Amino acid sequence: MSKDERPHPAAAPPTSPASGEVKPSSPASGEVKRLSKDERPHPAAAPPTSPASGEVKPVSAASGEVKPTSPASGEVKRWGFSTLALHVGQGPDPATGAVVQPIHMATTFAQQGVGKHKGFEYGRSGNPTRQALEECLAALEDARHCLAFSSGLGAETTLMLLLDPGDHVVYMEDVYGGTFRLFDKVLKRYGITFTAVDAADLDAVERSMTDKTRMVWLESPTNPLLRIVDIDAVSEVAHSHGAMVCVDNTFATPYLQQPLHLGADVVVHSSTKYISGHSDVVGGALMTSNEELEQKLRFHQNAVGAVPSPFDCWLLLRGVKTLALRVERQSENAMELATALRSNKAVTRVFYPGLDTHPNRAVAARQMRMFGGMVSFEVKDEPTAFRTLERLRIFALAESLGAVESLAEHPARMTHASIPAADRQRSGVGDGLIRLSVGVEDVADLIADLESALS
Ligand SMILES: Cc1ncc(COP(=O)(O)O)c(C=O)c1O
Repeated sequence: MSKDERPHPAAAPPTSPASGEVKPSSPASGEVKRLSKDERPHPAAAPPTSPASGEVKPVSAASGEVKPTSPASGEVKRWGFSTLALHVGQGPDPATGAVVQPIHMATTFAQQGVGKHKGFEYGRSGNPTRQALEECLAALEDARHCLAFSSGLGAETTLMLLLDPGDHVVYMEDVYGGTFRLFDKVLKRYGITFTAVDAADLDAVERSMTDKTRMVWLESPTNPLLRIVDIDAVSEVAHSHGAMVCVDNTFATPYLQQPLHLGADVVVHSSTKYISGHSDVVGGALMTSNEELEQKLRFHQNAVGAVPSPFDCWLLLRGVKTLALRVERQSENAMELATALRSNKAVTRVFYPGLDTHPNRAVAARQMRMFGGMVSFEVKDEPTAFRTLERLRIFALAESLGAVESLAEHPARMTHASIPAADRQRSGVGDGLIRLSVGVEDVADLIADLESALS
């Protein structure tokens, strides 16, 4: 048979399963013959599963071939991080045996009677692919619950809607610019008040608490100055005032740091970053082990509707499988790069929690597994920073972070441009500051790229 005569692989009929363990979901042919042309399902549409009883029958696991999607919880508790990332929420699909979680695009789910369904009714309220992602991410933060969102800011907004007019929030001054914008330009209009503090200074946190403070918002390491907050100690102060603690764990990732073990009540993620890891999906997540908070958040997730698409959930599930591998390599690369930058004459300061010059290295070493893939450094002034960024060949000049490829950016003009210049300067984000998101490339190439751009 010549190459052209061969059937295209996509057109090949499915090979009949020898053992008959995985049943085709098409009804018996006699049944199909009775359907009129108009009643027949379109060939591209999945045929109804098991039409008789109305129940979706999972393929029997008796043979042991097709396991239920979620492993038993006792088993899960003994698993390490990467095993959890690969297997929680995503065992072989019970219906087909597919080892990769299917993308359930359905926006609505058939009910067997009014209010009688299999846990899914409507795509905004819940979706099986999203549920698989939420189970997996909850396991990675060692949380009881996770809620997935269409972006990190969608997650943040939904979380902030737990507050009422008159409530007060204390937040780490060096937060992501978009978080600041949400607080300052949006939520203030609804009567919520905010105080920025250097949360690395416990006395400053204590002093800023009032009888209206309901939330303390932390990032550690911070963006872009990689400052470190002692989450345990701040949580104690916040809880003694009856305030909840929310930690944006985007920079650290659950592989390096688990804030719920350090006293936090809610963890926030822009899963756009390390969790996805491939610069191809925007997403967010909230994790908590507090049942009351989970219920309120679940209500707001549905009421506000900032939910991710099933395809985005699938991409995130795919990305998170390699989180530990990626973050280990990124942390090793970042440590070498920070060390090399420190001895470069054009560099005036390097910010990296793993360097012995970092004021809170000891706290970072206590609460993080490694020091992460983000490095910032300062050059003389803005023109030097711009010139350096434009001369880079491997690092792409781009916002965002956490992906396999290395990125560089200018916080003052890019990610943190929404912070007024005076506030920015006060918190130390100067015009000569460059932020690097270190990828998984060969570190020697990354160092050479930076050194040549700085020369
Ligand atoms: C630390 C941090 N938190 C939250 C966000 C917001 O996430 P998203 O862009 O997914 O809305 C970002 C985005 O850069 C971030 O860096």
